[in-house]
Amino acid sequence: MQNFTFKVATKIIFGKETENNVGTEVRRYTDKVLFVSGGGSIKASGLYDKVIKSLKESSIEVIELFGVKPNPRLSLVREGIKLCRENNINFVLSVGGGSAADTAKAIAVGVPYDGDVWDFYTGKAIPQEALPIGVVLTIPATGTEASTSSVITNEDGWYKKGVNSEFIRPAFSILNPELTYTLPPYQTACGAADIMAHIMERYFTNEKNVDLTDRLCEATLKTIINNAPIVLDKPDDYAARAEIMWAATIAHNDLLSTGRIGDWASHRIEHELSAIYDIAHGAGLSIIFPAWMKYVYKHDINRFVQFAVRVWDVDLSFGNLEVVAFEGIKRMTDFFKRIGLPVTLRDAGIDVERFEEMADKATASDTLTQGSFVKLNKQDIINIYKLAE
Ligand code: NZQ
Ligand code: ZN
Repeated sequence: MQNFTFKVATKIIFGKETENNVGTEVRRYTDKVLFVSGGGSIKASGLYDKVIKSLKESSIEVIELFGVKPNPRLSLVREGIKLCRENNINFVLSVGGGSAADTAKAIAVGVPYDGDVWDFYTGKAIPQEALPIGVVLTIPATGTEASTSSVITNEDGWYKKGVNSEFIRPAFSILNPELTYTLPPYQTACGAADIMAHIMERYFTNEKNVDLTDRLCEATLKTIINNAPIVLDKPDDYAARAEIMWAATIAHNDLLSTGRIGDWASHRIEHELSAIYDIAHGAGLSIIFPAWMKYVYKHDINRFVQFAVRVWDVDLSFGNLEVVAFEGIKRMTDFFKRIGLPVTLRDAGIDVERFEEMADKATASDTLTQGSFVKLNKQDIINIYKLAE
């Protein structure tokens, strides 16, 4: 097991009607917020009115920034930074999905910085401070509610990049599973795939003697596998929605990475898809993960066998190790299909023309590779896109 430091500073406020506490929570920091949200689902669901009421009751002035798109754009981040500076705002509140939260984080880190906020995403600058951030979450998926990351798309060239910093871990996140009842089935399924991907990125490691975190990963995966079909059948099943919402946070708040080094190649390979084709991140992952697994499983077949047996209940006597490992990958792919997700590029209507360009972008780092479990070069990534055709 690797040495590690583990500190998750985000206060989680979980459960029914917890959005009504948002005013009290924000008041601990400020009396004025930038309120960031997406395309209006929070107005349709009635959440907007509840949050505004709670903020008003705590005498908090609100400046609004709506219009965050899925795969959130840099131009709106810049608008938000300008609004904060012009109005002397020192707290950013996101009400909505991961895209709204990632936009809030980008604004929070951009306001105190003299240069261009995109510098943090290209690695040209490292965050030294950020405004505090609060989140009221409406979709369990990204784990951004307690993560150190923000992922933004720069429309100038369609680069989708992330920044990681403790400064942008939210001060608090309000998680009410009831707020997820209105999610369209496709978004629920995309969320499930993203949560599973965050766990699997950590699970496939070269680190030995990580039994505790292996088993925590397996339990969290099984929680999604068991509960996603329930909520797709019955969207207002509180118990199942609650399991999924808490699993999403656990999957990406770094608990499951303690003592181990994750892979993250599939995320990088996927980000090129959602940057160029504007598909949902979770749908990109349900296409890329099976292909990545087929490409790398020989690197550590025992780990893939463990995944097949413990997560997908494949019997060890099903066949030789290779057959068992493959059956695990197949059951995962079938699960993605069953919950309505694409598992090939064709399913998502993506053509084969831009593999080279996407692989170039994905490997545009110092090392010219991606991944840690297996280091992938540009040609490997093209091969994975081909396997995903
Ligand atoms: O914009 P509105 O109108 O709110 O509608 C959204 C949007 O159309 C809708 N929605 C959200 N909650 C709803 C709802 N509709 C009905 N009822 C509700 N309760 O769902 C659509 C998708 O929302 P979005 O915020 O884009 O989804 P998600 O939370 O999956 O965020 C995806 C983004 O996060 C990034 C992804 O790459 C993608 O850009 N990620 C962020 C990470 C992080 N910061 O830690 C890690 C992830 O790996 C990921 O890369
Ligand atoms: Zn993800």
